Amino acid sequence: MFNSKIICFESYVPEKIITNDELSNIVDTSHEWIYTRTGISKRRISTVENTSDLAINVGKALIKNSNIAPEDIDIIIVATITPDHLTPSTACIVQGAIGAKNALAFDINVACSGFVYALSVADKFLKSGLYKTALVIGAETLSKIVDWSDRGTCVLFGDGSGGALLVASEDENSIIAEDLKADGMCWQAITGGSIGINNAFIKDKKENPFYLQMNGRDVFKFATKTVPKSVQQVLDKSNLSLDDIKYIVPHQANLRIVEVVAKKLEVDLDKFYLNLQDYGNTSAASIPIALAEMSKKGILKKDDKIIITGFGGGLTWASMLIKI
Ligand code: UT7
Repeated sequence: MFNSKIICFESYVPEKIITNDELSNIVDTSHEWIYTRTGISKRRISTVENTSDLAINVGKALIKNSNIAPEDIDIIIVATITPDHLTPSTACIVQGAIGAKNALAFDINVACSGFVYALSVADKFLKSGLYKTALVIGAETLSKIVDWSDRGTCVLFGDGSGGALLVASEDENSIIAEDLKADGMCWQAITGGSIGINNAFIKDKKENPFYLQMNGRDVFKFATKTVPKSVQQVLDKSNLSLDDIKYIVPHQANLRIVEVVAKKLEVDLDKFYLNLQDYGNTSAASIPIALAEMSKKGILKKDDKIIITGFGGGLTWASMLIKI
């Protein structure tokens, strides 16, 4: 019987920092509005690198950190809603660039829950006993699908990438419990990159809105309703309580959402690891960027238990209880 052991986390973000004040030169907004409504101060915006470039840097860092040879990697999964292309997948571009010539590779599209879903998929591959090593990466260049004239959305998002390297293990188990869900009835709450039908036989072509559109208030209500329940689900499945958990690492969308979640769970806000002030909402990348940052700071110790919890487009949500 095999389990999945997480060996390390890494992240990579574009160099360019855009502050709230800089955004107020583009749209009718202010640092005060953005900071008080969301907790975000700045974000990284890519002017050179595409999603695959960010993901490749994470892949290389994971290989270096874990000392595992590229040809020993069996699986590469990239969670993204902003791939370079519809085909090939971002994961295939990563596979080629890092020389993981024996790995299968594919992307998954689960928006801001993507990294947790991708970890879960990798976990099942490793548990099968057929594969030994997996790279799981969340990578986004949301700046290319954001409408930079819409102040209601463009101030929220950023670009970046993070990931984890997992191996099959007979002795250790990092993934204790999970809760993955979707509510496709509400898919219209967040849309982006829409591609309408288009062929030589259509007379009246409709323009599809390519840029990201979101009903912020509905998503806020959805997140504050589902995340506390999902966190409780993974606690119940593991027979643990919040006292056993060192940190909750939420999708980094909005400080106000996290405050409501903390209140509903009756837990101190300090239990939540937050870096949204520096990166904004980087969708599938936000949780692994936070995990890599925590790891670099040395605040994740062996055997610590943490909960990661994502929510977003789909609508989808996903929580996982992890032992470091
Ligand atoms: O990763 C996917 C997950 N997505 C999320 O988690 C998003 C969840 N939703 C939210 O975080 C919040 O709903 C937002 C931050 C998006 C918006 O906050 P809100 O408190 O719900 O504001 P609102 O949309 O109700 O807008 C309030 C006012 C409006 O003006 P009026 O109609 O009251 O005059 C907006 O036009 O704020 C205005 N506004 C802005 N003003 C300055 C909206 N965006 C801005 C802006 N700067 N950037």
